[in-house]
Formats: sequence, structure tokens, C-alpha cells
Amino acid sequence: MTSYNKKTVEDIDVSGKKVLVRCDFNVPLADGEITDDKRIRESLKTLKYLLDHNAAVIACSHLGRPKDGFDMKFSLAPVAKRLSELLGMDVIMASDVIGDDAKAKAAALKAGQLMLLENVRFHKEEKKNDPAFAKELASMAEIYVNDAFGTAHRAHASTAGVADYLPAVCGYLIQKEISIMGGALSNPKRPFVAILGGAKVSDKIGVIKNLIEKVDTLIIGGGMAYTFQKAAGHEIGTSLCEDDKIDLAKELVASAAAKGVKFLLPIDNVVGDKFDANCNYKTVDADKMPADYMGLDIGPKTAQMFADAIKGAGTVVWNGPMGVSEWENFAHGTIAVAKAVAESGAISIIGGGDSAAAVEKLGFADKMTHISTGGGASLEFLEGLELPGIAALNDK
Ligand code: 3PG
Repeated sequence: MTSYNKKTVEDIDVSGKKVLVRCDFNVPLADGEITDDKRIRESLKTLKYLLDHNAAVIACSHLGRPKDGFDMKFSLAPVAKRLSELLGMDVIMASDVIGDDAKAKAAALKAGQLMLLENVRFHKEEKKNDPAFAKELASMAEIYVNDAFGTAHRAHASTAGVADYLPAVCGYLIQKEISIMGGALSNPKRPFVAILGGAKVSDKIGVIKNLIEKVDTLIIGGGMAYTFQKAAGHEIGTSLCEDDKIDLAKELVASAAAKGVKFLLPIDNVVGDKFDANCNYKTVDADKMPADYMGLDIGPKTAQMFADAIKGAGTVVWNGPMGVSEWENFAHGTIAVAKAVAESGAISIIGGGDSAAAVEKLGFADKMTHISTGGGASLEFLEGLELPGIAALNDK
């Protein structure tokens, strides 16, 4: 595992300085309204610290995946509004990123004031980690703070490149994410149980390989479980399956067994006659899947078996739902696992993305020790990969 010992906002004098802060304000929007502001709320501690310590704060972020150039749909204006509500202060919104408006507003910015640049991805140079673009961003500030954990797996201009031009430290959110997840991986309270779900085995190979070295029990559910069930010789009907990963699935099961890791796969499934929220469905044992049905959730016997394994755990790491949890008929497995994790008393870490959204929606969020703000970033961290946005920062 990569371990970091990076300077933080507390290791640098920010008073009277212009500080460029990279946040991950990539929040879900519906009709221009923010539907989940967790990432904004999680950025407040660092922003408040800087403002309270007399810095002039220039925040920046990406939002979505715009094509090159300004596009109102991807404007950070709704984020500026929400930030202003949460902080109870004005947030000065720039109409561009490194253009005249941003530069004039940054130059006039006073200590204790906060401005937000427009979406850094309005410039294609951002994702290319273009040095000239990074230098332009840096030119508006004297210190760079990265607090965008959710984007730390991207080596982009605003997440990594800019650190070449300014003293570069991390904020409280990055610190919190890596200390909780890093602590769980390097020195877990045992038994250590990992629960992996989601659609694809190929997305999770690295995580499975890394976790097999560390956990006592590995639980596999969700769409990816059907590839393992096929590898075990079961009929899986029209379920999701990555045929080119069947040998790998067999190897992973064998490797877990060789290491004494308990490897739990579904023993029953809720299956549907088509991929539709309102399809006909029934529960069948894992070895009795009809050829014309597809698995859409784990079944009740599996949910009970997984819950028993989670009960008594010291540490639980969970990434990926157990079924199509956004459809009521196929959410029971994910609900059962969320409930078991919430009641386990274990240190519980929920990888971001779909599992975090499911836990929040199902009302278990306040029962978890930590819900990561990173989807891809938390997966790469659990894989043991280096995150470029953190690696770029100054060492202590
Ligand atoms: C995320 O939501 O995972 C991050 O904000 C990164 O976004 P990206 O996958 O578009 O780089």
C-alpha cells in the first residue's frame, strides 16, 4: 500500500496569502439543482480553516465531463450558491477559469474572502495535465491546497500539475480519507471483512487481489458474482457475465483458499425474466437458475449468510451494491447488507460511488464510520495504487 506523509494546511503559513484550493465539487445535479451536497459539505473544514486563518481562497473544481469550452450545463454556479448558503458568506463566482474575469477577481480578492473559478474542464488542457495551463492556474495564487480526494486518482492540471509551481499541501478531507482507509488496510481490527459488489469483475480485479492479502473474509455480490458462479459450474441464465474473466475468477477463489481467506459467493439469487424494474421475478438457489432468467439481487439465504459473516467483524470495507439497488424489488440484498454493517459495531468504511449512494438513500449513512467521497479514487486506494493528486504534494 502506498503510504503518504504529506504537508497539510497546518504546516504552512497561509495568513495574508492567496490560496488555490482544488475541491471535488463534482456533485449530482437534476434540473440545475444539487441533489446530494455531501462533497460540498466535506470541503467546508478546509475552506473554513483557510478563511479563519486570514487567507484569500480561490476554490476550483471540475463538474461532470464537458467537451472543450464553456457549457452552462456544467457550470459551477449552483455549487457557488450552495457553498455560500453553507458558509453563510458571499462566494464570488468567476465566469471563467484562467481568463480576464478570474484573474481580475483573484487579484482583487482580500483575506477572508472566497471565490470559485468556473469548471476547470472547460479547458481541454486540464485533463491533459498541460503545464502551461497548470502554470496559469498557479499564477493566481501563492499556495496550492489539494482537498479533492474524489479526483485524486486523476493526474490532471488542477489536481497534480499545479503542484509543480506552488508550495503544495493537502486539506483535511484528503487527510481524513487516507488516514481512515489507510489505517483499515494497514492495521485492521480483525476479523476484517470486505464486501464487493457492482457490475463488473474487471473493475474490481485489482481490489480483490489487494484485499485477498489483507482480509479474513471476502464477500462477493452484485452483478460481478455471476461470473464467479459460472466459474463454479453453475447455470447463470442471461445474467451479467464476463466470459474472459472466468479463469481469473477461478484463480482468485483458489488464491483466497490458499491464504485461508473465507470467500463467500451467493447461494441463492433473485432472478428476473428481463432487465426491468417491473419484470417477473422469483428467488432460486444458485445451482437452479433458469436459463431464461437473469440474476438481479442476492437471495434471502445469501443475505443471511453475508449478515452472519459481517456480525462480529472488527473492520468492514464495502464497495458496490449487491443487486440493482435502485429498483425496489432488487434492493433487499443491499438493504440487508447495509443493515448488517450498521449493526455490526465494526469500523465500517463505505467506498464511494454506488454503494455510498445506496447507504445514504437507505438511511444508514449516520451508522457508518466513514463514507468515502471518492468512487474511482477510493477503489484505486483500496487497490493499493498511488494517487497522483496526493503523490504530487510536498512531503513533511
Ligand atoms: C468522481 O466522481 O469519481 C470524480 O469526481 C472524478 O470524476 P471523473 O471520473 O469524471 O474524472
